[in-house]
Amino acid sequence: MVLGVSAGSGAAIARALAKDPGLDIFGVHRGRHPDSAGAVARDLGALGRKLHFRIGEAGTAESARAGAEEVLLVAGARQVKVLVHSIANASVGSLVTRGVTQLTPRQIEKTFSSMAHSFVYWVQELAARDLLAPSARLIALTNPVVGSLCPGLGVIAASKAALEVYVRQLAIELGPLGHRVNLVNFGLVDTRAGSVGFPSEAWEQAKARAAAVTPARRLCTVEEVGRLVSVLTGDAAEWFNGATIDFTGGMTQSLLGIVLNASGMDSNQGR
Ligand SMILES: NC(=O)c1ccc[n+]([C@@H]2O[C@H](COP(=O)([O-])OP(=O)(O)OC[C@H]3O[C@@H](n4cnc5c(N)ncnc54)[C@H](OP(=O)(O)O)[C@@H]3O)[C@@H](O)[C@H]2O)c1
Repeated sequence: MVLGVSAGSGAAIARALAKDPGLDIFGVHRGRHPDSAGAVARDLGALGRKLHFRIGEAGTAESARAGAEEVLLVAGARQVKVLVHSIANASVGSLVTRGVTQLTPRQIEKTFSSMAHSFVYWVQELAARDLLAPSARLIALTNPVVGSLCPGLGVIAASKAALEVYVRQLAIELGPLGHRVNLVNFGLVDTRAGSVGFPSEAWEQAKARAAAVTPARRLCTVEEVGRLVSVLTGDAAEWFNGATIDFTGGMTQSLLGIVLNASGMDSNQGR
């Protein structure tokens, strides 16, 4: 199952899981990216995998309940081997600063519901109907914003912090049943959600800056994220649980090094 399957990271993860370990996909999206959703359908068809799209909201408790009912009808009990939460539905704005767009209570609640609470809602509804396969892998996605102070991204950082705590709590509750719950932390990838809030020129600059503070001097790709999720579904990854897995390519540490500038070296040396 992939929530947010039609674009960006979710689309790449669906392709990766269809290839390795070779899963059929139940994906949810609201239908705003028909071209990209069509490409996912074609690629999964070419791999010989089945695909079921549920077109609709996935970021609320009600939608999780209705979605789990559909999983039961389409797949039956104990068939969900992997759940990936890849919904991007956040608002950008200040908490309090005057003169710039301030977040409203509705925007804050929507962001938390879509980006954090809905992961719990889906797990609750799947578990209540015995839809999780033995040793299911439940995976959510986060980014280094959670540990940074980025103007305008306060509610995203706060919702990702909640998501991280949810992952640990779910891990301890589901661990005895054999399920594993983890969070993958990766840096900027070139997707629609990543670019939200940036005029096109500023988005190009943001990507260049993110690449410059990553040791490999480039951005992560959604295909790389997809391949990591494939790895996390395998037997060798069985002991990852309640973890926030650093897949930033060293970006976080690199940023810290630049701030501290302890060695006095040019942070871009060797570029
Ligand atoms: N982009 C980055 O730099 C980055 C870095 C690290 C982590 N992440 C995380 O990765 C996840 C995915 O981000 P992305 O950049 O790949 O996003 P994206 O390319 O914008 O794709 C978001 C997907 O979620 C679906 N979606 C959004 N709101 C939804 C809702 N309420 N109900 C159902 N589906 C919904 C979208 O389709 P519809 O609009 O048609 O519903 C689309 O399929 C997010 O959790 C994000 O925080 C992103």
